[in-house]
Amino acid sequence: MPATTWSRHHILSLADFTVTEYDTVLQTAASFREVLSRRTKKVPTLQGQVVANLFFEPSTRTRSSFEIAAKRLSADTLNFASSTSSITKGETILDTAKTYLAMGTDIMVIRHKQAGVPQAIAQEMDRLGVKVSVLNAGDGQHEHPSQGLLDLFTICSLLEPSHPRLELLKGKKIAIVGDILHSRVARSNIWSLTATDTELHLAAPPTLLPKLFADCGQDRPGKLFLHWNLESALEGADFVMTLRLQKERMTAHLLPSLREYHHLFGITRSKLQLCKSHVKVLHPGPVNRGVEISSDLMDDPEFSLIQNQVTSGVAVRMALLYLIGSGKIS
Ligand code: NCD
Repeated sequence: MPATTWSRHHILSLADFTVTEYDTVLQTAASFREVLSRRTKKVPTLQGQVVANLFFEPSTRTRSSFEIAAKRLSADTLNFASSTSSITKGETILDTAKTYLAMGTDIMVIRHKQAGVPQAIAQEMDRLGVKVSVLNAGDGQHEHPSQGLLDLFTICSLLEPSHPRLELLKGKKIAIVGDILHSRVARSNIWSLTATDTELHLAAPPTLLPKLFADCGQDRPGKLFLHWNLESALEGADFVMTLRLQKERMTAHLLPSLREYHHLFGITRSKLQLCKSHVKVLHPGPVNRGVEISSDLMDDPEFSLIQNQVTSGVAVRMALLYLIGSGKIS
């Protein structure tokens, strides 16, 4: 593993991540990717530590990815799903967290539909004076830092597989298209993808991309642009990230119809002709096939990085667990 001076105890947001922190995560993840390519894909790094996955909201890839990442590091894992837990009997979230603390948990990976829950639990752990680290695995519409970091790793690894680093993004044009309003993935990616001298273009119908998103681009090394049509965002893009229409978070009729949305903002092979010829497409999943991206494009390895993102996710989450967990190994 690379020598590291990592000092961040909880990972709750990318808003204040430094270039050094991004590069440490990318480099550490590259080392773990090498471990994952071996016949024995396991290292003893977190042996004896307990990683609890506290998912108060449904998840397929993030929960499984954290679980396999913890197991590859030889940690003991506890999995919790709120629908089958004492939450249904009225237990509070903080009491659930304290229960896992009392069982010797070292790292809590937390997902909740309400923004701020991982932070509230982190504050409670700090108040109690315990060394438990909290990792935000997605809180409401706020942030999803591990997804932002795995997207960054996927892009930088494509640009230079042996040495992924933030500066590789310099001068690149990246477009994020879709339901930005409801997306914690977009919010984390806005921080990471403007952390160096890039052009980040956000595109969506006005109902899914309010003007206030322009504020996120202030005082960032990268430039942020907002588009209410797709074409200008795609022109000359090196990477296009599409986002799921989050119907479960939509409280009003924000779109005329899914068909019209696909026609105007769905990513298809023909629309990609506006981009650079080497353009690649990302999507955090889960995908509404034929809505935000055409089904054939999603499965086309020439353009789609969607499976690479899932694979990258394990190495990046191993890196995050290692960086916040290794401080406790004496
Ligand atoms: C995302 C999430 O849950 O925020 N998915 C993920 O973690 N891979 C995006 C989504 O739900 O659309």
